[in-house]
Amino acid sequence: MCRSALLFAAFILLMPNAARGQGGSANEKASVYEGWRQYSVHCARCHGQDVLGNPVAANLLVSVAPGGPTAEQEAFLTVVLQGRPERGMPAFEEAMTSEQMEAVYVYVKGRAEKRVPPGRPKDPG
Ligand code: HEC
Repeated sequence: MCRSALLFAAFILLMPNAARGQGGSANEKASVYEGWRQYSVHCARCHGQDVLGNPVAANLLVSVAPGGPTAEQEAFLTVVLQGRPERGMPAFEEAMTSEQMEAVYVYVKGRAEKRVPPGRPKDPG
């Protein structure tokens, strides 16, 4: 490969997601779509359609915002995995795989950072 092609490849890889076009990489798009699907099935009834909040449960847009109680993926996944049964948050240990939970985190984080608009994301195919 010639030198300029290598430089170009390095440039693309080092660009921030936003500069590469809306929604970031193909992988991230797939996660957002899968996360939206999983969220809609498992979480929306309590946390609100499109993560827009619901009086039933915590507002996850606030929970994953910087400084929020589940801003970091690990804290978020711990709550989803184990739940807080005494406070009405079910454990999803048996209902979801860790990939599905991670996709939900990517989706909710994207919603909180306004990178993902409300509604059904485009199916990455
Ligand atoms: C049956 C209703 C219900 C469902 C379904 C549900 N949750 Fe919850 N969730 C709650 C309640 C209630 C709380 C608040 C618990 C508390 O007061 O600590 C909560 C809290 C949380 C928290 C902690 C937020 C914070 O600020 O501490 C996270 C993260 C969370 N839920 C994620 C999810 C995800 C992801 C799903 C879907 C996989 C989901 N929940 C499904 C009821 C639900």
